Amino acid sequence: MKIIKYTLIVLLAALIIIQFIRPEKNNGGYESVALFEKETKPSAEVAVLLKENCYDCHSDQTQYPWYAEIAPISFWLDDHIEHGKGHFNASAWDSYSIKKKDHKMEELVEMVEEGEMPLKEYTWIHGDITEAEQKLILQWAGLVRLQYKNQLQVSSK
Ligand code: HEC
Repeated sequence: MKIIKYTLIVLLAALIIIQFIRPEKNNGGYESVALFEKETKPSAEVAVLLKENCYDCHSDQTQYPWYAEIAPISFWLDDHIEHGKGHFNASAWDSYSIKKKDHKMEELVEMVEEGEMPLKEYTWIHGDITEAEQKLILQWAGLVRLQYKNQLQVSSK
């Protein structure tokens, strides 16, 4: 019995200690996706969908839930955000070439079509997007790709 008691005490102490290790927050302010939205022109409806379902991991403006304050959940969320942003960051849109933008939109279409985004773990708490919402995002992304494709053709002439 003693060993169980000591193990619990050590675990509890560890849990308390890790609360002092806080990953840096990812919130650069709402303006940070302004350029992305200016260029890709989502409808008001799609803009809300992106904000509610994607920007937490794909922009510099995560809206943190209360449990994000608790380690080790905070580490887990931070990992998703860093990983997600590494692949696609709407806040860094101006640093992408047209080719890269087009490619990211292509991947976005794939991810949404296959129901891989938003990330499964995220939908457990935030809920998933509906089929109709999925369609709206896909229509928007299709138009955005046409725009970049045109730009690519013009610039290669
Ligand atoms: C909880 C965090 C999270 C949310 C929310 C989320 N993503 Fe992701 N996303 C990721 C991670 C992590 C990856 C990296 C791919 C992987 O390892 O699965 C990723 C990958 C991607 C990629 C692939 C980029 C590439 O280079 O292949 C696209 C595009 C994408 N997400 C779009 C979206 C869209 C659109 C939404 C909203 C409908 C969304 N994501 C919601 C975390 C998230």
